[in-house]
Amino acid sequence: MKKIAVIGAQWGDEGKGKIVNYFSKNYDWVARFSGGSNAGHTIFFKDKKYVNHLLPSISLETQSKGYLGSGMVIDLVQMGKELSTLEKDFQGISARFYLDLQASLVLPWNKQEDEFFESQRSEPVGTTKRGIGPAYTDKTSREGLRVYDLLDINRLKIKLSELYSMKKKLYGQAITSSDMQVYDELMEGFNFIKSLKVNLMTSIELYHMLDTQSILFEGAQGVMLDIDCGTYPFVTSSTCTAHGVNSFGLSVTELDEVYAVVKAYTTRVGEGPFPTEDSSDKGTILREKGLEFGATTGRPRRTGWLDLPSLRYAILKSKITKLVLTKADVLNGFDEVKICTHYEIDNNNQDIPYSTKDFSIAKPVYVNLKGWHDLKDKTFEEYLLFIEKNLGIKVEFVSYGPKTDEIFKR
Ligand code: GDP
Ligand code: IMO
Ligand code: MG
Repeated sequence: MKKIAVIGAQWGDEGKGKIVNYFSKNYDWVARFSGGSNAGHTIFFKDKKYVNHLLPSISLETQSKGYLGSGMVIDLVQMGKELSTLEKDFQGISARFYLDLQASLVLPWNKQEDEFFESQRSEPVGTTKRGIGPAYTDKTSREGLRVYDLLDINRLKIKLSELYSMKKKLYGQAITSSDMQVYDELMEGFNFIKSLKVNLMTSIELYHMLDTQSILFEGAQGVMLDIDCGTYPFVTSSTCTAHGVNSFGLSVTELDEVYAVVKAYTTRVGEGPFPTEDSSDKGTILREKGLEFGATTGRPRRTGWLDLPSLRYAILKSKITKLVLTKADVLNGFDEVKICTHYEIDNNNQDIPYSTKDFSIAKPVYVNLKGWHDLKDKTFEEYLLFIEKNLGIKVEFVSYGPKTDEIFKR
């Protein structure tokens, strides 16, 4: 059955939640494959706004199911909070969510380490302080806990006591929760989501269902924040490209489409290179018109112009097949709209950066296109054609407002 991925192609917050929510009514499953509660995906249902951090953006109109995959890092208390919010309006909805037994857990210690590392860095990353980096560090150093570890209480207690003494030796005062406090918090969170009838499952069971059921993979963050191909070290700690579907036993080439959600301009929250950043009044106008404040931390987002070299890079890195352009409405009323067509790197013109280091030294080269007042204006269509010609890929959908149905297909 049909399998697609919807990912972010920039530095996150492209409007993935809205686009996933638009597509989701046609899919049996919506699955997150990476990240954790650092994500903030905004959706609307009947004029009410919801922000999903961990929960996949399942359709609230249909009986679609949500899967939290093994590549994710799960904060169980946060998951419980999100489920409680949805339960108020959609009683029983928790039973439509499935948590992979192999997903990693974010422990309270990971959040304390996140704070600590940021305070020690001469160049902080600007993390969301949700414990994401340290949880993935524990995973790759093989000290992490997984959901299935909560099913063996004796072993869990031994492991937590061992971890506590290790972390205390490493980070001293920065570690403020005891192993028993961590145990209590984990079990409270786990028992709560179980009481709401969240299902535990494995990707092998899901894989077998995909012969007869369709799936939409919901990416988190964006290609430029990917641990391998993003603007390292100013990135998150997980795979943000569509290749993250490998944790489901699938290859990206088995997907029917990889849709990249792209904002009509560019934003970034947190530190790190941003070649097309505009710190002038125009950037402020973009922030104010686009309501560019983080859905997770409320921080103001940095703003700038559409960056074609970074999109060319994202298309290659994530096997993107189609684009969905969002927030086109925010550019309404500009006399001119800037687009970066290539970078100047070490005095050479480059269409695409070769290494992520290039992003920090790239000078953007712009063209100015005529602006538009209304998306029906010819100049807006010219803007879209310019993007398509320069990227060699189709802009299949255009989103012009935060509500689910404020979108058209071209
Ligand atoms: P995500 O992390 O990619 O899901 O994006 P966020 O939810 O963090 O941020 C996108 C913001 O833009 C949210 O406030 C959305 O409601 C809003 N949004 C999404 N699409 C559009 C659009 O086409 N136009 C406008 N004006 N707002 C949009
Ligand atoms: P969605 O899915 C935008 C950024 C943080 C920081 C860096 C590392 O909503 O698009 P982390 O807490 O992950 O260690 O922070 O990554 N970041 C995001 N920026 N959207 C996101 O998610 C983000 N998730 C992390 O601001 O710069
Ligand atoms: Mg977001």
